[in-house]
Amino acid sequence: MTTRRIQDLLKNGQPEEAVTLQGWVRTKREQKGFSFIEVNDGSSLAGLQVVMHQDLPDYADIIRKLNTGASVEVTGTLVASQGKGQRIELKAESAIVYGEADPETYPLQKKRHSFEFLRTIGHLRSRTNTLGAVFRVRNACATAIHNFFQERGFLWIHTPIITASDAEGAGELFTVTTLDLKKVPQTPAGIDFSQDFFGKPAYLTVSGQLEAEITALTFTNVYTFGPTFRAENSNTSRHLAEFWMIEPEMAFCALDGNMELAETFLKYVFKHVLETCPDDMAFFNQWVDQSVIQTAENIINSEFGRITYTEAIDLLEKSDRTFEYPVAWGLDLQSEHERYLSEDLFKKPVIVTDYPAEFKAFYMRLNDDGKTVRAMDILAPKIGEIVGGSQREERLDVLERRIQERNMPAEELWWYLDLRRYGTVPHSGFGLGFERLVQFMTGMQNIRDVIPFPRFPQSADF
Ligand code: 4AD
Ligand code: MG
Repeated sequence: MTTRRIQDLLKNGQPEEAVTLQGWVRTKREQKGFSFIEVNDGSSLAGLQVVMHQDLPDYADIIRKLNTGASVEVTGTLVASQGKGQRIELKAESAIVYGEADPETYPLQKKRHSFEFLRTIGHLRSRTNTLGAVFRVRNACATAIHNFFQERGFLWIHTPIITASDAEGAGELFTVTTLDLKKVPQTPAGIDFSQDFFGKPAYLTVSGQLEAEITALTFTNVYTFGPTFRAENSNTSRHLAEFWMIEPEMAFCALDGNMELAETFLKYVFKHVLETCPDDMAFFNQWVDQSVIQTAENIINSEFGRITYTEAIDLLEKSDRTFEYPVAWGLDLQSEHERYLSEDLFKKPVIVTDYPAEFKAFYMRLNDDGKTVRAMDILAPKIGEIVGGSQREERLDVLERRIQERNMPAEELWWYLDLRRYGTVPHSGFGLGFERLVQFMTGMQNIRDVIPFPRFPQSADF
């Protein structure tokens, strides 16, 4: 008999069908002469109720072993459920206990645990309802993202994890080295990286964008979807040292097309998740944040706000809110400003464009005013910045000038400049922080709880 997944049984299982299921015990209720065991195999939020009667072979021994967390295989017959809350249940005819879980020491007992505590047991926390739902929704988001781009003819490009360039120029790099840290070779000018594995300094990538630009100038439309690393010492609920980013890049595309794509894209992903994970989303709406379904519907059905940075500063200066960080033209928006704009003022995502060149990356296209660049950030309620993107500087002379102004090493970017020498075109793209998307989708407060194994300062266990 083939083993069936519980999601399939809950949906398609019919009374009198003979089935085998495998999973882990969530709860056990002993009655006189029989017991109810709820088994979950991760395929859905709900588990299947298994009824074991005392005439089951080895009944007493099996029930003694089947505590919360134990692993089990049950063979039996589906029957219509008498109880409330489920359509069918499984009447056990035989059971194999694979592994016990001692109730004296197994940390996941019935009570609700804090997310902080669950982070200390990262090897077990996905067995909880909330984290299980998060990781299924995360999977659905990833599926939707690939579907969206594949349906539109975008090529998925695997950009490198190890790189020699700091694409964002923010210096938040993890160094990759095989040098012996106890005796680092030196030259008069500093560390002798010629003796290192790559013969020069190398880092974990902060963005696949520059490589995405290379390939967009061959394939027209591409996207990346991979891990990204930032060594910023940010202990916030929105920052990870290792996160996943999706970066589409489009040739023959200006900022308007970029904004259009980003908005259509986010709507598509929300719609897919609402359609494919209704139970998990209903769970978040009940237990985590009672506005997530309304928020998702709002994203799908309303147009995003669109303002320039200059207008955003204007709105912030006019507001009666007191902010911790100063607001003035020329200063970057802080998360409190971003949230005020999207959460309080627009009550939906808002796209802010044309930021001052000074605090944006070197590759963004300079506007005719010589002061601002064709940048776009999408700000989301409760999250702040969820997408950062821009039209890229495709003019060789302007790009060379900007690299010079920033004292960046032009010789190391020779290949990036070559793209402006040979067949340059207007092109644009953006980066979506995958975990911020999952946070937005689920209402989870802390970004550390939407990635299975979070990396942040002082923490790289599991
Ligand atoms: O705004 P960022 O730095 O943009 C880029 O890296 C561009 N190269 C993207 C592009 O145009 N192709 O990062 C993009 C997004 C942010 O909007 C945010 O959602 C997410 O990545 N992000 C982080 N997410 C989690 N933890 C961090 N430390 C993050 N830093 C950025
Ligand atoms: Mg950004």
